[in-house]
Amino acid sequence: MPARRRAAKTRTAYQSLPDPAPGLHLRSPGVQLRVEALADDLLHLRWTHGTTGRPTPSWVVPPWIQPRPTIKTKVGATTASLTTPVGTFALDLRSGAWTVTDVHGLRVFSAAAGATTVSKAEAALTLDLTDGESVFGLGETTGTFNRRGLQREFWNIDVLGHAPAIHPALKQLYVSIPFALSMRDGRAAGVFWDTPSRQSWDIGQTQFDRWQMKASTGAIDLYLFLGPGVDQVVARYTQLTGSMPLPPKWGLGYQQSRYSYETQERVEEIAKEFRKRRLPCDVLYLDIHHMDGYRVFTFGKTFPRPSELMQRLGRKGFKVVTIVDPGVKNDPKFGVLKRGRKADAFVKAPDGKADYLGEVWPGESRFPDFLNAGVRSWWAQEQKVLSDQGVAGIWNDMNEPANFARPDKTLDPECLHRTDRGPERHRDVHNLYGHHMAQASREGLLAAGGADPSQCPRPFVITRAGYAGIQRHALVWTGDNSSNWDHLNDAVQMFLNLSLSGVPFCGGDVGGFLENTTPELFVRWFQFSTFTPFFRNHSNIGTIPQEPWALGQPVEEICRTFLHLRYQLLPYLYALFAEARSTGAPIMRPLLWHYPNDPVAVASGDQFLLGRDLMIAPVLRQGAVARSVYLPNDTWIQFWTGERLVGGQHVVSEAPLGTIPLYVRAGAILPFGPAQQFVGEMPDDTLMLHCVPGPRGRLDWYEDDGETQAYEQGQTLRRTFTSEVKGRTWSLDLSPAEGPFASRVKTWRLVLWQARHKGRLRINGRQAPHDVVEDQDMIVADIPNTAGPIHVEYSPVM
Ligand code: GLC
Repeated sequence: MPARRRAAKTRTAYQSLPDPAPGLHLRSPGVQLRVEALADDLLHLRWTHGTTGRPTPSWVVPPWIQPRPTIKTKVGATTASLTTPVGTFALDLRSGAWTVTDVHGLRVFSAAAGATTVSKAEAALTLDLTDGESVFGLGETTGTFNRRGLQREFWNIDVLGHAPAIHPALKQLYVSIPFALSMRDGRAAGVFWDTPSRQSWDIGQTQFDRWQMKASTGAIDLYLFLGPGVDQVVARYTQLTGSMPLPPKWGLGYQQSRYSYETQERVEEIAKEFRKRRLPCDVLYLDIHHMDGYRVFTFGKTFPRPSELMQRLGRKGFKVVTIVDPGVKNDPKFGVLKRGRKADAFVKAPDGKADYLGEVWPGESRFPDFLNAGVRSWWAQEQKVLSDQGVAGIWNDMNEPANFARPDKTLDPECLHRTDRGPERHRDVHNLYGHHMAQASREGLLAAGGADPSQCPRPFVITRAGYAGIQRHALVWTGDNSSNWDHLNDAVQMFLNLSLSGVPFCGGDVGGFLENTTPELFVRWFQFSTFTPFFRNHSNIGTIPQEPWALGQPVEEICRTFLHLRYQLLPYLYALFAEARSTGAPIMRPLLWHYPNDPVAVASGDQFLLGRDLMIAPVLRQGAVARSVYLPNDTWIQFWTGERLVGGQHVVSEAPLGTIPLYVRAGAILPFGPAQQFVGEMPDDTLMLHCVPGPRGRLDWYEDDGETQAYEQGQTLRRTFTSEVKGRTWSLDLSPAEGPFASRVKTWRLVLWQARHKGRLRINGRQAPHDVVEDQDMIVADIPNTAGPIHVEYSPVM
């Protein structure tokens, strides 16, 4: 191996140094290494260039406040090791080779001699890949679900039409999350190299058994997650980089956008059409044409009275989200520019004196230096003008940042930021720009929310660019896709990998942004997006209209059906959002999440689970009216036909244009709401509880007001629903409600599937009436909601 040969020449010969911090502190010529355990299953390894000083703290990882695990360290003549209750890091002091093994002695990570190098401006690390190891995550990615065999560069760029068929060699995207989840034989582990400078990974492409990572920085700041559960790895990663705050409930509704609805009248027409046609919708977007000459935080002539517009739309149940790009038009008369200059808020040119000038939609522009807290609060104040006019959410775009003036489409790498921790060249912090812009937007919405923080409307921020931890500030939408089948295919895997990378709230332009969509493609995209966390239709200037009614009556009908389904699913979705917030579990889950020991499930990236209990297999090929679906080891009920199927097999699912292959797991407990026109149109007092008898029935129910920040102060309600089947009896238990929030649910309308007969239904021991819907094999009964425990039992009388 060339790497090993090189190693022989550069023997690193580490020696141990005293350090008050628990862990290992070692030095070899020109390099220091610190190894710490943050948790039993989380190691932090830092190699830094030079012989003095401590490593610089992370830009995004907050200080670790969890209790540290008990560790044992040992420094012998040839090896130094650190052992936690679940794993051991061991370094060969002579060669620098290292391994991480689990309690069974299985190698989880290993790096050969010479595979870890750090110089002043570049650091590299090569991990061994084992046979059958698969690699997922890496945030926003194009191409195959399993990232093994591919290369990825972490350097945020503005890229038009990023489907692999269009840009086969594309390695960069808008978002950089250098975190990966590796899976082998059902065992998961994770790697996160925390640096916002340029980083490139070659995951077994150049050498099939090597995972080569390189970054333009003089340090390796590495977190290793030992698992062994997929959920453990993602939970730890989320604990490290922060969890997603809850969005307002309306943010889960359907959203309509276009580049652009150019006038106030047009926006109102669109709103009217939605309501007239009874197509549910919660949010309308204003793209760049709403501004006065693309000047940020302004409204132009075609939007003469924005607050009245927002009020009128508000009365119809619509929220408005406006685009906010970072580039501030370099117009000396423009107030935002004048105030920004006065605050000295813009990124500096390489000389460190003049403001850097680039070019974006407004023409020549300056770029706020979001890496500075003072600049973020200035921006937050400027943004208030939007909240004051009734804008409900902020859509951050072009925040890689995009710059049309340079071939590399971003800022000069030598530009100077004056960050909270001192001056930094753009090249060293590039990937943080969008992250901190989203932070500024979120903080702006919080600051504009009134004196009582608990009553502040929940911020809703969308971002195109981001770095690890972006989930704390914004949801990620995946930018400029195209209206073609390749891109629809790509979206499924992209969202799954994003979801595994700590970003559960994600989605893409439904129907495709670039080029004209077709009725069939649009329908398939719409059906898929009904089950994605973020559900927004958006299309480019010059393309044909793409509203749900614009492609003909049959398409509109199908969209209506799926919109109804989306709105009915909202209570289930919201519970999944709450779970994602507390554990990091994705909302949209790859099969490997629940079936890690099933190799077919692990490889499956073209179908997914929504939570544990719904399986969606989107139709991704033109003309297809059926597709193969893998059903993992459980029993599944075909949603549209009620057919019961055993798992562990592929089935061919019929999918004429009006349907999508959709399966419910036996054991499912699915709360359904009304098919309303917008969130809050109807009261939440009666919710359906669709239950399918089967094993491991569980729902983590969550409620709060859905609108304000009061949930952050504990105004929540949680309870666990469990169900089981014993003999011929099916039972459901609701644990006592926990938390001070008073449930809005008065009645749970139980819909028990696969129940053919009138039987005995008991609620808390008392016989209760129920109806039988014979043609659907269901029984229906109302369960009055109370805060105490509820026990329901059903057994058929034959
Ligand atoms: C970028 C965005 C796109 C938006 C357009 C105009 O291309 O990705 O969504 O419509 O800019 O603002």
